[in-house]
This record gives sequence, structure tokens and C-alpha cells, in this order.
Amino acid sequence: MTRMAGKVVLITGARQGVGRSCAIRLAEQGADIVALDQPGPESDAALAGLAAAVRDLLRKVVVATADIRDLEAVAAAVQAGVDELGPLDVVVANAGIFDAPGPSWEIGEEVWVRSIDVNVTGTWHTVKAGVAQLNPIGGSVIIMSSTATVKSHAGSSHYSAAKNAITGLAMTLANELGERSIRVNSLHPGSVATPMILNPATFARLRPDLEHPAAEDVAQVLAGRTLLPVPWVDPIDVSNAVLFLASDESRYVTGLQMVIDAGLAQQVAS
Ligand SMILES: NC(=O)c1ccc[n+]([C@@H]2O[C@H](COP(=O)([O-])OP(=O)(O)OC[C@H]3O[C@@H](n4cnc5c(N)ncnc54)[C@H](O)[C@@H]3O)[C@@H](O)[C@H]2O)c1
Repeated sequence: MTRMAGKVVLITGARQGVGRSCAIRLAEQGADIVALDQPGPESDAALAGLAAAVRDLLRKVVVATADIRDLEAVAAAVQAGVDELGPLDVVVANAGIFDAPGPSWEIGEEVWVRSIDVNVTGTWHTVKAGVAQLNPIGGSVIIMSSTATVKSHAGSSHYSAAKNAITGLAMTLANELGERSIRVNSLHPGSVATPMILNPATFARLRPDLEHPAAEDVAQVLAGRTLLPVPWVDPIDVSNAVLFLASDESRYVTGLQMVIDAGLAQQVAS
């Protein structure tokens, strides 16, 4: 209950999936939360639900909407959080997208640019606005990358290129912020059970042999890609790692690229 006591944490992509799990996990351990997600009715409802859940844990929360491609909007959202909760201790740059896959030479310009804009420039905006509001000494920045940086799959070059780019951003930041005792690490999940992969389009792509594939059909395929006998990790497995990297337990851990993937990256057969 006290691993994050007194700390203020900014999390992007907080309305669902990994981001929501991080918000709850860190609040459970005493953090106050600035939760940001893209504008729209879906976010308003989901962020209101998240805020209620954080308050139930007796923690403070500020929710805000901003498209991370819009630096001014992100900076304003972060400012609103800091005005209410005080300077940030932790930035979790988590928001991201996996857009329509396809061979590198066939991916449309629009899909490529959107992937780079959201995943790379949006993450940089989060860092730019977030680091400006960190306490001057001490803190933790966590960048949500992917095993797409260590093991590429056909059809995902727009995503892989973006996640490699933000891993470079993270490692550069680790060099830049070390002297302020601010640690910067990247997380590299494999498949995570969130709407990003648990959706009809992904099911159809992974099981083209079936007319109406469901999650359990896809689980069979993905379980063949991991060392441990599971198809994917759960959001809590990623948020537990975020908790470690956000807390003082990892006080001398910086420049790490931490993989959480049930062995996906080390599996030689897929
Ligand atoms: N699910 C996986 O298999 C997996 C694997 C490796 C890495 N990741 C990474 O983990 C992170 C979280 O993904 P998830 O699995 O929870 O996916 P998700 O789709 O459930 O959540 C992504 C969140 O980011 C938000 N978002 C997207 N575009 C945004 C924008 N322009 N501005 C603000 N917010 C925006 C979405 O609204 C959503 O809340 C992403 O960076 C993703 O690339 C996911």
C-alpha cells in the first residue's frame, strides 16, 4: 500500500488496457494519478469510471483528454494535473496504436504516418510535456515499447519502426536525465490481452482458416509463439513491471529495456 506513497504519476492511454491497469495498480500503492486519453465520448465515460475507481482507493485523480499528437493539448492536460496534484514524480508514456497491418511496401501512406505520429511523436510530446513538470531531482520515466523491437513479425513495419524509435528516445533520455537522478526505462511487452489484440480484425488475421474466429481460436496460435504455456500476458503483468520501475525499489535501474512476454522474443520457432 505504500510503494508509491506521496508520488504523482502521469499515465497516457489510461482509459483501458495497460494504461488503466497501471493507474489502478499505482493508486493501490499510494500514487495520485493524472490520467490522460484521447478526446471523445468513449474516453469521457471510461475516464470517469477510472476516476471513481482511483477515488475508491482513497487516492486523488485528475482525468484529462488530449490527442498526444497535439503538443499544446498534452501540455495543457499535464498542467491541469500538476495544478491540482503538484509536480510529477513519474511519467508513463503508454498510449499507442497498432494500425492495419500489411507488407512494408503496401502499407498506405496514411497508416504509416499515423503510426509514426501517434507512437513516436505522441510519445515525444508526452515526454516533452511530462519531463518539464517533473520534480527537479529524482523521478522515473517509463516508455511503452514492444517486443516488436527485438522480434519482428511480417506486416508490422510501421509499428516496429515506431517502437524502435521510442526505444531510442528512452535510451537517449536516460543519458540526459541521469544527472538529475531521473531514471528512464522502456518496457517491451509481447502479446497483452487488451483491445489492441483482442478484436475481430486481429482474430481474422491470425485465423484466416475460420469464418468467425474468437479469442480462444487465436489463443491456440499465440500460445505456439511463447516459451511459457500461455498465449499472452495480462495487463496486470505489465503494470506490475511499471510499478517496480516507478517505485524506489528500482532506484538504480536506468537505461533498461525490460521484456515481459512469456518468452515470445526467445522462442526460436516462430
Ligand atoms: N496489447 C499488446 O499486445 C501490446 C504489446 C506490446 C506493446 N503494447 C503497447 O502497450 C501500450 C498500451 O496498449 P494496450 O494494449 O493497452 O492497447 P489499447 O488499445 O487497449 O490502449 C491504448 C490506449 O491509447 C489511447 N490512445 C491511442 N491513440 C491515442 C492518441 N492519439 N492520443 C491519446 N491517447 C491515445 C487509446 O485511446 C487507448 O486508451 C501501447 O503503447 C501498445 O503499443 C501493447
